[in-house]
Amino acid sequence: MCGIIGCVGARDTVPDLIEGLRRLEYRGYDSAGIAVLNGDGVGRRRVKGKIRDLAEEVRRHPITGTCGIGHTRWATHGRPSEDNAHPHTDCGGTIALVHNGIVENYWSLKEKLKAEGHVFRTETDTEVIVHLVEKHFRGSLEEALRAAVRELEGAFAVACVSSRDPGKIVAARNGPPAVIGFGEGETFLSSDITPLLHHTRRVAYMDDGEIAVLTPDGARFATFAGAPVAKDAETLDWEPAMVEKRGFAHFMAKEIFEQADVVRDTLKSRVSLENGRVFLDDTGLAPDAFREADRVVLIACGTSYHAGLVGKYLLETLARVPVDVEYASELRSRDFVMDRRTLVLGISQSGETADTLAALRLARAKARAVLAVTNNANSSMARAADGVLDLHAGPEIGVAATKTFVGQMAALALFALAFSQARGALNEADSLALVQELQRIPLKMDRVLAGAAAIERAARRYLACEHYLFLGRWINFPIALEGALKLKEISYTHAEGYAGGEMKHGPIALIDEGMTTLAVVPRDRVYEKMLSNIAEVQARGGRILAVAFDGDAKASAAAEETFTIPETHDLFTPFLTVLPLQLFAYHSAAAKGLDVDQPRNLAKSVTVE
Ligand code: G6P
Repeated sequence: MCGIIGCVGARDTVPDLIEGLRRLEYRGYDSAGIAVLNGDGVGRRRVKGKIRDLAEEVRRHPITGTCGIGHTRWATHGRPSEDNAHPHTDCGGTIALVHNGIVENYWSLKEKLKAEGHVFRTETDTEVIVHLVEKHFRGSLEEALRAAVRELEGAFAVACVSSRDPGKIVAARNGPPAVIGFGEGETFLSSDITPLLHHTRRVAYMDDGEIAVLTPDGARFATFAGAPVAKDAETLDWEPAMVEKRGFAHFMAKEIFEQADVVRDTLKSRVSLENGRVFLDDTGLAPDAFREADRVVLIACGTSYHAGLVGKYLLETLARVPVDVEYASELRSRDFVMDRRTLVLGISQSGETADTLAALRLARAKARAVLAVTNNANSSMARAADGVLDLHAGPEIGVAATKTFVGQMAALALFALAFSQARGALNEADSLALVQELQRIPLKMDRVLAGAAAIERAARRYLACEHYLFLGRWINFPIALEGALKLKEISYTHAEGYAGGEMKHGPIALIDEGMTTLAVVPRDRVYEKMLSNIAEVQARGGRILAVAFDGDAKASAAAEETFTIPETHDLFTPFLTVLPLQLFAYHSAAAKGLDVDQPRNLAKSVTVE
């Protein structure tokens, strides 16, 4: 979703703004722009299209300035166009403003401002904010923005500059994230930390209801009511190299190949190989929360929802506890029943997805405790929850989640083990065997990834196939869903994920030579039933690809291609079965020459509802 960047210092900020926007590209966008204070007024360049188009526009029509803001826009109100691209300016052209979020009362504000004589030039909700700032401006940009945000309803992270109050960026936050980076004689603002890493590792996160004033020397913070807020800078532990491609053609490929390390890092210092105990002390969750809970609710969107489904099977089997997995957007609209014996997990790689955050806040008022399972320990969800189960996956830049999905499954496996141990549902011998096998998973993942070339060849052979049915049962049903989602997201190929048992209730009608079935069929408790599904597809002339254990002659007999994985415990097969499906989607999209890391219309983190 929209990305905001800002920079104020002694140097020309334009190259930093463009580079910052480039590093925010992965969030998803359709247009972009920058505005700088250049001594005389506000210089602005905007384009519909990519950051490289914006850079080209700036090369052809240069602007410079030591204080500026930039934006990548993901259209909500108003189609993608140069006019609708941020930054927006006021009637006088002395204020420029960028916004991430949605102003829900923009229509009534717009009518009021128009009646007062303000002239609107865009179809966006954002434009009302810059006119409100203009209306309230009496010499201080900070005061004007403070007065403006008090009139807004909805979610916003906003940054503005003005030639009438130069040398500073003023930002406000109520919802979408905003983080400030402290450099040497220069200060940065960003929607997330990826653009900041190349300048500094000292950062401070804005909280909801806060205004920040950035100058070259640093930043000061106050509430919307004007009360000063003291904030210490935190030091990031992410390295700049972590947001580079390191020789891979796409971030997604690099991230797929990092997955074994993600599991290693998620397990690190949290398990004992002596007795199989799992320690989640770092989450900050009170140990009683496990013992007092008799139900678990997992809330998420997208790929994180699929990780939640895997978590459900793990928890049911290991902890013998009832589990519900809910789409955050749906849960919010329902009269959802939960009480003080319910433990809630919000699963979100970004920790910023608007629906998951809102659902997690609703749950906090009712549940025993709320835990954020996230890759961003400083995110809004991490702050809104009672505890944080940090994935330690490092930055994920590809829009289609891969390594964070595997990190989430690892975190949920740990959670399920810790929960079962706290409830006495798992004895020491079984715990130890499971933990030892979990420790072996990264090595097995590396073995699957070593076979990537065969999967690439298969993906190329199947490029003409337009319809896919992904089938899996029990703990690999979520993997079928995730495999289909990956293929849809990045290769724009029609794919449906189904539980094997549901095939006869509809999808079987679609089977013909134009429909390829990708069957996930490890030798687990539902193996024979999956083999029957494969036979049914074969009998109807459907083409079959399979993911099966090494040396499984039965599964591979019916399949045109079999992607093999090493044997493992039933409960941990998803760590391995998902890998060929990710690679298949990746190579399908890459072979078609598609924008793998930034698929059309998608956003890395959906910060509006
Ligand atoms: C977007 C991304 C998906 C992601 C989903 C949930 O749709 O494109 O990759 O799974 O949001 O994001 P979250 O940050 O909450 O895990």
